[in-house]
Amino acid sequence: MDKIRLTGGRALHGKIRISGAKNATLPLLAACLLSDKPLTLTNVPRLSDVETFEALLAHLGVEVHQDSARGITRLCAKEILSHEAPYDHVRKMRASVLVLGPLLARCGEVRLSLPGGCAIGARPIDVHLKGLEALGAQIHLEEGYVVAKAPQGLVGGEYTFPIVSVTGTENIIMAACLAKGTTVLKGAAQEPEVTDLIHCLKAMGACIEGEGTSTLTIYGPTNFVEATHAVLPDRIETGTYAMAVGMVGGSVELTHTSLSLLPTVVPLLEAVGLVFEETQDGFKVSYDGHGLKALDLTTSVYPGFPTDLQAQYMALMTLAKGECHIQETIFENRFMHVPELARLGANISVKGNTAHVRGVPHLIGAPVMATDLRASVCLVLAGLAAEGETVISRVYHLDRGYEEIENKLSACGVSIERLVEGNDHASSQFVSQAQSANNR
Ligand code: UD1
Repeated sequence: MDKIRLTGGRALHGKIRISGAKNATLPLLAACLLSDKPLTLTNVPRLSDVETFEALLAHLGVEVHQDSARGITRLCAKEILSHEAPYDHVRKMRASVLVLGPLLARCGEVRLSLPGGCAIGARPIDVHLKGLEALGAQIHLEEGYVVAKAPQGLVGGEYTFPIVSVTGTENIIMAACLAKGTTVLKGAAQEPEVTDLIHCLKAMGACIEGEGTSTLTIYGPTNFVEATHAVLPDRIETGTYAMAVGMVGGSVELTHTSLSLLPTVVPLLEAVGLVFEETQDGFKVSYDGHGLKALDLTTSVYPGFPTDLQAQYMALMTLAKGECHIQETIFENRFMHVPELARLGANISVKGNTAHVRGVPHLIGAPVMATDLRASVCLVLAGLAAEGETVISRVYHLDRGYEEIENKLSACGVSIERLVEGNDHASSQFVSQAQSANNR
């Protein structure tokens, strides 16, 4: 398994091109299953989660053509050859559950391996199933699989989400596009990735009202047409690099992104001590290194502070002046980065869903282990500031969601390299790739 080695202490200066959002790309890929017409996605990030999802689509019979160098994926689900999402695919990535709605709507039947628990909590899919039942699906469980049927096709209905679920909302919106009649969804997730999916579905011919709000109306069935859609910038990657600047100081321009994607994050980071300035192509984030203010945080659904930035914020707070409380309200087991941060010298205690962080004057490099996607990037952030060398193992977690992270950071002056499995020397390609990372 690859590792990342970095030496901390250098301020960041330069430019980072933000990639397309992983969490937008996966539902957009799933949307191709609804139609026999081609769908072209641009600004697609090169990530292992995207590859895993494309492999699942290919298994289902979708023609997938990737032009990775240009970030373009062409999809055509002319014919669906299988309506089963097998264990081996779902086990690798629980977002595979996103094929449930579109496949059921298109084929009238689907078998999906139950995702089961995962590193950051139990993560059930009950609201996905209840939402589909509201559209007329019959659902039962069979040998670890969800079997959903709608032999006469789905019919429009009304469903109120009892909790806000991002992929749940996306699944039901997609299914409703092929249901006969009007569907009204209340309590829908308002995350920008949901809105991006709606924009793409509209380009594909769907008639949907209410995007960006918690009530959505979908008029089905859709007569699909060929479409092209550019994936939304990754707001989590954007927030991560902004906080990286806060860890060590410096000034970095984040391009192909926007401050408007982070309505709650930016004001909090400003209060903590970071400075933001809009540019033509994104924004500049700077920090003069004169002391971060410790401020409390509670994660919540959009437009609240995203759970996917909680671990990174905690890394930032390890170096703040004073102490703060970080409360996680979305997932029940999302503090696995705490013991690893402690190995670098952080002072954090956890009680229930709240972490108490007492700022320390400095962190010290050490070997640490990544446990999930966002936990692993928080260790990269901590390593940027830690004195000496930090080696992070199990970086395959990072490759799921951060495109070319070591190249993007090394282009800003960070001493960082990937140690490739079975190779005692650092990957020699990383230096030459550093310049090209931001040119795409
Ligand atoms: C998505 C994102 C993930 C992000 C999360 C919250 C993708 C691929 N993943 O995950 O990165 O951290 O939103 O913003 O876009 N729940 C239920 N029953 C359900 C569904 C969810 O109880 O049927 C609970 C979950 O356990 C969790 C909460 O609802 O506590 C939110 O989950 P949800 O929004 O569905 O998260 P994901 O869509 O899995």
